[in-house]
Amino acid sequence: MNPVNSADRWSVYPPSVNLESEFDIDWIRSQFDFVNTGRIVTNNAASTQAPLPILHLTREVLRDYENVHRGQSQASQSTTMRFELAYDTIAAWINAPSRRNIVTYRNTTEAHNAVMYSLMTEFRDGDNVVTTMLEHNSNYVPWYALTEEILPRFGRRVERRLARFDPVTGALDLHHLTSLVDERTKLVCCTGASNFLGTKPPLDIVRAIADASGYVQPTGERRSLMLVDAAQLVPSTYTDVQALDVDYLSFSFHKMLAPFGVGVLYGKEHLLDHSLPFLFGGDMIAEGQVSPDLVEYNELPWKYAAGTPNIVGVVQSAQTLRLMIDLTADPGEASFFRSERPIPAHVVRRSMERIGRHTHGLTARALDRLSAVPGITIYGPPIGVVRSPLVAFNVEGWNPLDLATELDSRGVEARAGCHCATLAHHSLGLDPPASCRLSFALYNSTDDVDRACAAVLDATGRDGGSVSRSLRL
Ligand SMILES: Cc1ncc(COP(=O)(O)O)c(C=O)c1O
Repeated sequence: MNPVNSADRWSVYPPSVNLESEFDIDWIRSQFDFVNTGRIVTNNAASTQAPLPILHLTREVLRDYENVHRGQSQASQSTTMRFELAYDTIAAWINAPSRRNIVTYRNTTEAHNAVMYSLMTEFRDGDNVVTTMLEHNSNYVPWYALTEEILPRFGRRVERRLARFDPVTGALDLHHLTSLVDERTKLVCCTGASNFLGTKPPLDIVRAIADASGYVQPTGERRSLMLVDAAQLVPSTYTDVQALDVDYLSFSFHKMLAPFGVGVLYGKEHLLDHSLPFLFGGDMIAEGQVSPDLVEYNELPWKYAAGTPNIVGVVQSAQTLRLMIDLTADPGEASFFRSERPIPAHVVRRSMERIGRHTHGLTARALDRLSAVPGITIYGPPIGVVRSPLVAFNVEGWNPLDLATELDSRGVEARAGCHCATLAHHSLGLDPPASCRLSFALYNSTDDVDRACAAVLDATGRDGGSVSRSLRL
């Protein structure tokens, strides 16, 4: 079977763009302090806001805490338990087999660099790494650095190949991807959802393409490895790493209601076992196993936890996942926040499906409203086709950075720039390489969408509103 032939499987939005939320949005919003400031937060693809229960929990964690794996005190023991249980929660969230598959870093970018450094010694002369023009720079620049700057210094030549996307729909060109992957492709890197176009490449087909390469890995496997940048996927979609059969998958908690500072790398256990760590030092060493001639590494996942980790951040992040279940549950259902209760996969799935339907409804509404703005170009999949919950656009005659500033003066927090999707902006020929973007999260209401879209109309003067001519190009 040619894996590409079954590519056209776009699912569609529910017919109505006035989708009513299936949970109590007012109650959800009451759990967030920022709502009281009147901010219309529509830059959630960059970072989300933290809920009050997490801020309260943080005070408690800070009061009782100690370092992990490094003390005999009650405080150290209980912090260690909290920290380790957090790994179990994170593993459950993406249906990883266990905490042994979970590595925590500062963010998604660091997770990609960790994969790059871990695999660096394995690349053979003449190999290639394939990625796409849809990527965030964090899933391109490490591969640029590896192939252009690092490996050449060791006398190794490894090619970097980039798959195109359709400039109209934003869909990844699977035929082109197929043509780039061959028996020397060690790794295929692909976004799970574009942070500019909103496109969600069909990961099962990308997996099939990587499988068909026949590349012989040092572990004996005969296929290309697959890394999925899920920074925009995990926050809005139920993601099952075993069903996707990905080798590596990354995401950041600051895009899913937790405070800044923690990103995740999921890796298959045999790969994490086999690879060299990215960072070396304390806690990644087996207890007492250091001598002048031999160092033995700790068991997974601590082999990848060199130095004191972001203990509070990891606990906050895992508890935020638990809270997300409670926020989207039916009234009277069992609570997961602050508990140690194992999280069944179907509970995560239901919570994420509810969040997904809510944010897709908001996105469909924004697409509908914005398409009425004269001179607007909306990038990515057409209305009716599933996209991640964001809309990037330009309005004729407007520099997007000026437009975002105008929106901010109307209380709407948009983002303009290239969103680190620089390759895609260049590939669409945008000059400047920038767009204005609205992106939505669990706590956004239809009112937020309407006010944001009304602000675009008003700012661009198409609604009889005031126009700052000096801002026009
Ligand atoms: C698709 C995608 N990948 C990677 C990143 C980088 O995430 P971080 O800043 O947490 O490293 C982002 C952030 O916007 C993103 O949208």
